[in-house]
Amino acid sequence: MSIPEYISQQVLKLREAIEQHNYRYSVLDAPSIPDSEYDKLFLELQKLEQCYPQLVTLDSPTQRVGAAPLKEFSQITHRSPMLSLSNAFETAEVGAFGRRIGEKLGIDKVEYEVEPKFDGLAVSLLYKNGSFVKGSTRGDGHIGEDVTLNLRTVKSIPLHIQTSTNKDRIPASLEIRGEVLMLKEDFEKLNRQQRKKNEKEFMNPRNAAAGSLRQLDPSVTATRRLTFFAYGIGEHEDEEIPRDTHSNILKYIFSRGFPIAKERDVVHGSAALLSYYQKVKELREHLPYDIDGVVYIVNSLAQQKKLGFTSRAPRFALAHKFPAQEVVTELLGIDVQVGRTGVLTPVARLEPVFVGGATVAHATLHNEDEVNRKDVSIGDSVIVRRAGDVIPEVVGIAEKCHPRNTNRFTMPEKCPACGAKVERIPNESAVRCTGGQFCAAQRKKAIQHFVSRRGMDIEGLGEKLVDQLVDKGIIKTPADIYTLSEEELISLPHMGKKSASNLLETLKKRKNPTLARFIYALGIRNVGDTTAKELARVFGDFNKLKEANVETLQVIPDVGHVVAQSITDFFSEKHNIKVINKFFSKPVDIELKEEVDIRKIQDGSNTSKISGKTFVLTGALLNLSREDAKEKIENLGGKVTSSVSKKTNYVVAGTAAGSKYDKAVELGVVILDEAELLQLLQN
Ligand code: IVH
Repeated sequence: MSIPEYISQQVLKLREAIEQHNYRYSVLDAPSIPDSEYDKLFLELQKLEQCYPQLVTLDSPTQRVGAAPLKEFSQITHRSPMLSLSNAFETAEVGAFGRRIGEKLGIDKVEYEVEPKFDGLAVSLLYKNGSFVKGSTRGDGHIGEDVTLNLRTVKSIPLHIQTSTNKDRIPASLEIRGEVLMLKEDFEKLNRQQRKKNEKEFMNPRNAAAGSLRQLDPSVTATRRLTFFAYGIGEHEDEEIPRDTHSNILKYIFSRGFPIAKERDVVHGSAALLSYYQKVKELREHLPYDIDGVVYIVNSLAQQKKLGFTSRAPRFALAHKFPAQEVVTELLGIDVQVGRTGVLTPVARLEPVFVGGATVAHATLHNEDEVNRKDVSIGDSVIVRRAGDVIPEVVGIAEKCHPRNTNRFTMPEKCPACGAKVERIPNESAVRCTGGQFCAAQRKKAIQHFVSRRGMDIEGLGEKLVDQLVDKGIIKTPADIYTLSEEELISLPHMGKKSASNLLETLKKRKNPTLARFIYALGIRNVGDTTAKELARVFGDFNKLKEANVETLQVIPDVGHVVAQSITDFFSEKHNIKVINKFFSKPVDIELKEEVDIRKIQDGSNTSKISGKTFVLTGALLNLSREDAKEKIENLGGKVTSSVSKKTNYVVAGTAAGSKYDKAVELGVVILDEAELLQLLQN
């Protein structure tokens, strides 16, 4: 059957359009049509290809869904070896690197291209006459595996090199090198699915990316969302490639349709290398992907040539690694801790290790189901992760020292702190001590929460001190801290007169908290600091909140039935009312500060573009930490939530913004960049 010309034309047009939208979505992070429109185009192409199978070519976007499974990967010899980088962990090593280069080149302040070091898998992509023809893993640097079919499923890898203007000649051959990785949010999504299917979870995004890329069945790879970033070129026959600097090569690669690191920069001299390292280290936990350090590369190609290579790495580049966030250590035991709301948490006791910049001896195991799913037993070598502010956790076993199902962990049936019965929370994996305020562990935690930084912020009343005060029966409730005497304090070990009087002074000074702070400090189940701020903003008065019923509470957008019920439960508990009354009568006399913004918001006199508006932050901000941005927005009466919906007023997109950005485009939500947010904050 011959194919009508207009059909072939339409197929070509659709392919081009789809790849262009794909590029805008995956590489530029700036889609110009909603997902539904994209799906329509894709479906139309699929239909035409089904009717005219002769038209199907390997480089059609429909073929990204994955080809037939392979028996094994074939091997590919790299046309030039894929080298590795020399590593540095210490500042001094970076200094030595800079000095060596400066001396060899006879230059004072050498120019470097700097960028994050992606924690993924190195791959090489070969393009012939503009089409992607072969893709391989790094392997041992000389011989890698042919993973072409799998790489074809990665949407940020162009199937064709872009030609932006007619004068761009398509190179006869071009090898792009870069890293395949899985975004953190895609990793979380994948693990959620694995859990649902009762299949093994992946330890971290890197393992998930490796497992997905080295899949013999490309249709499985296609279901895993992988991402690619280019960082260099290999062998090529391409007249257009810049011959002056590495940063221009990167720009060129970008212009050809490949994603490159948005956080890259060009800096001069060793001191600037270290400040870049510091800056990226702070950005790290907000980036949408895992990185394990930064890479420094001498920018001038002529200078690179002068410096040359050792047998395994270039002398003109250095990987400055961050302290590892995951390490292996021995599991010495599993303790059970009782939290503020009575929830029992299994906590791993570990052979102390240095991880993520601190020594860790305990890590959470979350709950009984998690312990069993991870199949950890005492004596096993386990992988411990400590990343940013997140509490250290055991992510899995590195080496199983005991056969499966021996030494199985079970939750105690009685609370280890007070002996009360333990009950399972309906529909959850958590179990809770039923002892309430009779349980000393819960009381301690409630007081510790009350005095914490985001709570009443009582410096000098640390966890150990609270434990001692409760154990000795000196205090029983958070209200009792205000009636502590100097004698009681100095009767405790390691407590001098000076610290005792400082603490009493702080207690006195902190008797005028904002309503929001006070609500948060009470430690009502399911009421975090964002909800507390929202409650303070809406009710503006503690007594009104105390008397609110479930229906009234649910008027607040983020308060659903569960949270509302927790609040009314809290205020219907006699013991809690007793403590609250103590706060507001002599000799404690807490007086809540007027919240400056509340009145204004309630009577509508505040016309700020922020008050009452809902924001979602995505990607990394360069001048503000996300925490700061959140605080600033909230101080002006705005709200920051984590997911984009029709109710979202603004999405603030930093660098490397992810799917929230796409969602905002889809729903037509106003997107601000960092500068626009800063402007809004000043208005
Ligand atoms: S430049 C000669 N830039 O790190 C190799 N490498 O430890 C030049 N890597 O095999 C590589 N992110 O897979 C470069 N932004 C980045 C990188 C990066 C990750 C990997 C790469 C390389 C390994 C070396």
